[in-house]
Amino acid sequence: MRKSVFLAGLMITLLAVAPAFAQPVVIKFSHVVAVDTPKGQAAEYFKKLVEERSKGDIKVEVYPNSSLYGDREELEALSMNSIQMAAPSFSKFTSFTPQLELFDLPFLFNDVDHLHKVLNGEVGQKLLTMVGKKGMVGLAYWDNGFKQMSANKPLIKPEDAAGLKFRIMSSKVLESQFKAINANPQVLPFSEVYSALQQKVVDACENPLSNFFTQKFYEVQSDLTMSNHGYLGYMVVSNKLFWNKLNDGQRQLISQAMKDATEYANKLALEMDERYMKDIKASGKTTVHTLTPEQRKLWKAKLMPIYPQFEEKIGKDLIDGALAAGK
Ligand code: LMR
Repeated sequence: MRKSVFLAGLMITLLAVAPAFAQPVVIKFSHVVAVDTPKGQAAEYFKKLVEERSKGDIKVEVYPNSSLYGDREELEALSMNSIQMAAPSFSKFTSFTPQLELFDLPFLFNDVDHLHKVLNGEVGQKLLTMVGKKGMVGLAYWDNGFKQMSANKPLIKPEDAAGLKFRIMSSKVLESQFKAINANPQVLPFSEVYSALQQKVVDACENPLSNFFTQKFYEVQSDLTMSNHGYLGYMVVSNKLFWNKLNDGQRQLISQAMKDATEYANKLALEMDERYMKDIKASGKTTVHTLTPEQRKLWKAKLMPIYPQFEEKIGKDLIDGALAAGK
């Protein structure tokens, strides 16, 4: 009798302390860019917040620089729950949610305020819901910045790009964009761009300044045109099964940390755009060209006519909604 009372007591004690030995929840967060970019830094900040606030009950392992998965595998890995978070650029969602190619449309946004109106408004919400139907959970939008074109010659008029092989992300909008100026678009994963430029497999590319600098593209591109012709940003996504297994408290904690990391990412995106402009100029290797308003008009006139081709795929309502937010 006394022995069974002792055993029952022992069981109760063990059950009480069991949570202390529970394995932490692990979030593998994979991305393809350098740590010193808006996405790289925001992922590190998110990790710090989650681990501090959960007192170690939730761990975030960040894998930058395509060190775990590259562009082609990242979303596959997420859908198989091999990773639990990623923040691919919109163009990488093509085979899951092609409507996200909306953001690739050239000259869609007047400025960052216009972009944020779209992301935080009805269009942004609709796109998060669409991603949610594909076994993912859209958690946030993170900024990088406007894309600039680079090559080994100045690209001042659209005709200057004719015949050049441009590396693009896997988006049909980007393909049409470069075809519209008689260039030759080539899809390549981000991790292969530097060597493709170096070995002249491609001649040119388009990037926000943080990627251009941290990938050292200035070493292999003599000219950079501040064209601001398109936008590159991210949707942070999680796996739905993983997300649904978390308890309410964990979901709340992660959502709040994501909100804070988003603010951090977006502030950093603006700061880094300025900082890396200085660094690119200081490298002395790339000449920076700024388009005059008249020159920019020429690019717009060539590139914006591709919109109607995508009304069906993206949705005219989304395109019109995004344009209307800028008026
Ligand atoms: C690219 O492939 O150029 C970008 O999507 C990389 C990134 O994630 O910023």
